[in-house]
Amino acid sequence: MLSDKVLDKLPHEIRRRLEPYVEAVQLMTQTNNAKVLRSMAPSGVRGLILQRGKQGVPTTMPSHHRVYFDWTYPNDQPEMRELYTRAKEQQWNGDDLPWDIDVDPENPEKPIIPRQFMDYDALRTRGIRLTDLEERRLNSSVASWMLSQFLHGEQGALFAAAQVTEAVEFFDGKLYGATQVVDEGRHVEVFHRYLDSKMNKLYQINDNLFVIIDALIQDSRWDVKFLGMQIMVEGLALGAFGTLYQMTQEPMLKQLLKMVIQDEARHVHYGVLALRDHFRNELSDAERREREDWAFEVAILMRNRFLSFEVYEEWFEHKLTRKEWAQFVTDSPGFAIFRQVMFKRLVPNLREIGLLSDRIKPHYDRAGLMKYFDGESATQLSGDQLIADLDAA
Ligand SMILES: [Fe+2]
Ligand SMILES: [Fe+2]
Repeated sequence: MLSDKVLDKLPHEIRRRLEPYVEAVQLMTQTNNAKVLRSMAPSGVRGLILQRGKQGVPTTMPSHHRVYFDWTYPNDQPEMRELYTRAKEQQWNGDDLPWDIDVDPENPEKPIIPRQFMDYDALRTRGIRLTDLEERRLNSSVASWMLSQFLHGEQGALFAAAQVTEAVEFFDGKLYGATQVVDEGRHVEVFHRYLDSKMNKLYQINDNLFVIIDALIQDSRWDVKFLGMQIMVEGLALGAFGTLYQMTQEPMLKQLLKMVIQDEARHVHYGVLALRDHFRNELSDAERREREDWAFEVAILMRNRFLSFEVYEEWFEHKLTRKEWAQFVTDSPGFAIFRQVMFKRLVPNLREIGLLSDRIKPHYDRAGLMKYFDGESATQLSGDQLIADLDAA
């Protein structure tokens, strides 16, 4: 395989074309688990190489999960029943958000993300000088990109929640799942409306996010769908929403995020409840190991998701290499905070469902993620607590 060293010696144009392929191979081979590779590789090809999410046409994905009926309607999981009751009581209408607030994404008084989100001095050392206005515009592009990825993730969550509602074997889980489908529909609605009417810009789905959604929608195993959507995507989204909620000075977006965060806290809580016993008691060791490796691959994909390559392609494709851009984004203060908060939310949930055994810990350690091991899991945190914590920080 082409190493980074070989790549560095190639002319700019050739390197620019090869880099995505090299990244694809590097990403798909983190854990050397043949089963994980087999289940993820087709999605990797569709997302990273064929870029199916970027063709400007709708995508169809076959799904082979089993729909589980129970004609006795048992009350079989009191904690899920309680979440169902809470979800019904906490429904809200996206139309009631303060849509009449005027939003100017380039207004320095009420920035969507703060100016110091990106380190523009680092860009200058690479020979790129932006004017004040250009810096504000780039920040606004990054904010639109981020919100666009939230929106695409919400579309994935909407369909995954519907599949999971069909496949889950707890009847109380099915009732709860129905409320999540409504929640995700509302999230698609409000994020899209915000992007369309306030930001006037929508980015295409990021390739890494496409890979994850493609993999979990097509996987026939209900627990892998759960793991992918309820724990990984939602867990990381919860961290990302919280960070943006804290950072933004745009009041309309702040209110929108506050409402979404409260819903998402229930979704992740549900994921942890459904998987905890299943992974610990019902899977063989080999099956559990496969989930563990799968989760790690996805965690790495998600970490790399936040490098904003779609913004790079728009702004700097001929001025910087992908590697230089990746470094610039990785080092930028805003993205560093995002990564930190996202994994602070995710890692304790992986621990709680039994997917952080001593065997996998060194991988997380190498990726710099073990420092989050002792944090609070979703079952210990309600949406209100999350918001109170964010407001207090
Ligand atoms: Fe959502
Ligand atoms: Fe959700």
